[in-house]
Amino acid sequence: MGFTTRQIHAGVTPDPQTGSILTPIYQTTTYVQPSVDEYLSKGYSYSRSGNPTVRALELKLNDLEGGVDCVCFGTGMAAVQGVMLAFLSAGDHAIISDVAYGGTYRLCTKVLSRFGVEFTFADTAKPDEVTAAVRDNTRLILTETPANPTMKCSDIAAISAIAQKASAVHAVDNTFLTPYYQRPLELGADVSIHSTTKYMDGHNATVGGAVISKTTEQSEAVRFIQNSTGSIMSPQVAWLTLQGCKTLSIRMDHQSANAMAVAEYLEAHPKVEQVRYPGLKSFPQHELARRQASGFGAMAWFEVKGGLDAGKRLMDNIELWSLAENLGSVESLITHPVTMTHADVEKAERDRVGIIDGLIRLSVGLEDVEDLIAALDQALEQV
Ligand SMILES: Cc1ncc(COP(=O)(O)O)c(C=O)c1O
Repeated sequence: MGFTTRQIHAGVTPDPQTGSILTPIYQTTTYVQPSVDEYLSKGYSYSRSGNPTVRALELKLNDLEGGVDCVCFGTGMAAVQGVMLAFLSAGDHAIISDVAYGGTYRLCTKVLSRFGVEFTFADTAKPDEVTAAVRDNTRLILTETPANPTMKCSDIAAISAIAQKASAVHAVDNTFLTPYYQRPLELGADVSIHSTTKYMDGHNATVGGAVISKTTEQSEAVRFIQNSTGSIMSPQVAWLTLQGCKTLSIRMDHQSANAMAVAEYLEAHPKVEQVRYPGLKSFPQHELARRQASGFGAMAWFEVKGGLDAGKRLMDNIELWSLAENLGSVESLITHPVTMTHADVEKAERDRVGIIDGLIRLSVGLEDVEDLIAALDQALEQV
């Protein structure tokens, strides 16, 4: 069946007791067992170890990504952490995209490095640099593509081949494109990670995460960490995300078309210094973006002439676009990564990887594109 049919129906069956078409929110701590000998006969024991509403979402996301199983987490960061704890131990080494969500960088440099794990932040857009970074103790390569916030793309198949040769797990943060546009497991990766907070939910209503694995062994390793650390998704969040997923492809197509129109408008504007959107022919990795994904997504960034000061004036004055963290929602958001999402990345590192001070990130929403462009136009006039 096609993606849009599966995003609606996968994982969900009418409630056997009532016929409710939506999976109920199973708000319970524990599950009564019929007898000691029949312990777990209905599949559930305690809500840290499993919940039917969360399970419905896991089955749906696994179907969409094409894995063997999915484990949902309380946040996207808990999902990233789950992968790192599942596949790394003291003395191990991991290679991480040098451009990635600031929280991923913080987790590596400020938390896991305290436990004897070594990290190299490599330019995963250059497979040779990844090969050069591999050591005997490399156990994990984490690629974020397109990367937050510069949109740098990495070749998933090429890095999967490097990881396989090194006997390392290749995890891809697929948050920006979702399985509708990009399926890392089909391209050779082992694990696909999501902040479901973003496009899966799509309505700025929740925070959540998910990890979809290629093998049962990998998925069980991730599940073990989730249960041991208690970093679970709540049934309410799972329920809202289940509803959000049903319109994923429709939202992605519409928001991506909006993003293309916004990017083209900005590229032609005399007050704009540069624009980056994978769908633009001017995007440095346009061909790679086209080859490994079936759409370009709805994230973009630009810099106005006059740099940071001019950019701040624009972000402070713009109408309709909300100045906020988060991305992927139906509401269009404008973000200044240097002070917001990537504030924990040191300035020298930001400068090294191209997260420039004047970078203005756009999460293009579902509004009428004429209104989005009119709001940008008005704000640019004031710059
Ligand atoms: C690409 C990416 N991965 C992971 C995360 C972390 O997700 P969460 O905020 O749900 O913890 C984010 C958050 O912005 C993100 O953009």
